[in-house]
Amino acid sequence: MEKFEEIFEFVKNTLSEKRFYHSVCVMERAIEYAKIYGADTEKAKIAGILHDIAKEIPKEDRVSYAENIGVIPDEIEKESTGLLHSKVAAKIAETKFGLDKEICDSIAYHTTGRENMTLLDKIIYIADYTGKDRKYEDTNYMYELAKKDIDAAIIYGLKKTIDLRIKEDKLLHIDTVKAYNFLIKDL
Ligand SMILES: [Fe+2]
Ligand SMILES: [Fe+2]
Repeated sequence: MEKFEEIFEFVKNTLSEKRFYHSVCVMERAIEYAKIYGADTEKAKIAGILHDIAKEIPKEDRVSYAENIGVIPDEIEKESTGLLHSKVAAKIAETKFGLDKEICDSIAYHTTGRENMTLLDKIIYIADYTGKDRKYEDTNYMYELAKKDIDAAIIYGLKKTIDLRIKEDKLLHIDTVKAYNFLIKDL
């Protein structure tokens, strides 16, 4: 797929070696989960490689960069600007590569999750947590869980995110809370 080659080269030329490697690892997991759950593997592959394309924009430039391309930070993103890289990446996916809403949304919500996540949202969210570059003590547990029960893996990941943000005195994004409530209420 010609477009994929172009996107792959763009990611490789934009990101540091370490983050490019992370992107490749997320892409590989995304393809794997897409096959298991019957999602579009091409979309998973593209969203996976591109999801962190905006992660290396310097801290002091994040808000202005976002606003310049038409991403308006919400109250939480203005405080916790690290969150912004997802929506900025989704905007780049849309404007630079003309990618569809399903792909762009999965990139936009890969950090926070959201209420009623699509299958592709779930795949990218959990692929980001379970790439072979991740070295948490529970990475393999999450990977095995994600292959068997993606919702259970997402709940585990959301809890981990919430836990970590509380420990670090960081704001919780409302979309993370909504994602968690949505999945937990039917257990
Ligand atoms: Fe990210
Ligand atoms: Fe990532």
